[in-house]
Amino acid sequence: MNEPLVRIRDLVVTYKTRAGEVRAVDGVSLDIYPGEVLGLVGESGCGKSTLGTALLRLVRHPGRIVGGEIWFDGRNLLALSEEEMRRLRGAHISMIFQDPMTSLNPLQRISDHIVETIRTHKPEVSEEEARKQAAELIDRLGIMAERLDDYPHQLSGGMRQRVMIGLALALRADLIIADEPTTSLDVIVEAQFLDLLKELQEEFGLTILLITHNIGVVAQLADRVAVMYAAKLVELADVEPLFAEPLHPYTQALLASVPNIRLEGDTLKIMRGSPPDLIEPPPGCRFHPRCPHAFERCSQEEPPLKEIRPNRWVACWLYETERGVREA
Ligand SMILES: Nc1ncnc2c1ncn2[C@@H]1O[C@H](COP(=O)(O)OP(=O)(O)OP(=O)(O)O)[C@@H](O)[C@H]1O
Ligand SMILES: [Mg+2]
Repeated sequence: MNEPLVRIRDLVVTYKTRAGEVRAVDGVSLDIYPGEVLGLVGESGCGKSTLGTALLRLVRHPGRIVGGEIWFDGRNLLALSEEEMRRLRGAHISMIFQDPMTSLNPLQRISDHIVETIRTHKPEVSEEEARKQAAELIDRLGIMAERLDDYPHQLSGGMRQRVMIGLALALRADLIIADEPTTSLDVIVEAQFLDLLKELQEEFGLTILLITHNIGVVAQLADRVAVMYAAKLVELADVEPLFAEPLHPYTQALLASVPNIRLEGDTLKIMRGSPPDLIEPPPGCRFHPRCPHAFERCSQEEPPLKEIRPNRWVACWLYETERGVREA
């Protein structure tokens, strides 16, 4: 594989709250390669959005990046000035949220959003040329040209998400961070949107960090999958092998809870218990209180994320034991 576009190392992000310090991302290391769709999955509250916003240095108050490194295209993001960061966000990294209304100006027509984006990015493009490009883009996104002069609230949720993709395309963003982009859409609109996204991703070679708790969305779009549990990465793999044979007990449980995904062997069907408190997480492996395979070591020592097969990373003591080695 070529050089990663994003290189995250030992990233730690905390929220200071009255109850204590929430370690929402706790020592995550992860690479994102150009042209890939990396799915980031895990239960609600495990730190997915915090990780996504950290890449833009936009972690919400009272959150703070307190440790680690983020490299983007060879630049150390945590060392950039606020001004340099703003330029990077505008031109190189786009974020698509669950509710696109939060990113669109309600008083600005769709065409103006796109024209402005094109002209900010490429000031040499004339207003007229930018309007032409906006119309072409709108057409490519499957939005009818007559909607160009609509305001965001006049569009459906699915259309607004298409506009968000359009803005990222207009920028020629190197990285798109999509955080639950289809959660607010109904299933039909979601399917159409995902088809379009896949098409554009292939056509333009887009690099996408796709954050979702929807395993089906990941199965459809992702090339690789990173599984988070309680602020940590527990498994990282190419999408097919992960679905064919999830190795971390948490991934197994996560996939087993989704209908229509068949798993080999005996796996648990419902996940016991609830995700841990991130102020005082359980010692050892954070999943051990819910894990059907846990043994003594799991409650004592934290398992490191290790490459147990080529391109297959798992943080689980099972694969250190004789049994685990045999299984792997
Ligand atoms: N503003 C905040 N103040 C305090 N704690 C926060 C804040 N935002 C997030 N957290 C905590 O950080 C942890 C990670 O939250 P985050 O939103 O990143 O999770 P997530 O995986 O994106 O969840 P979801 O799937 O529900 O979107 C959670 O335990 C959450 O309670
Ligand atoms: Mg989230």
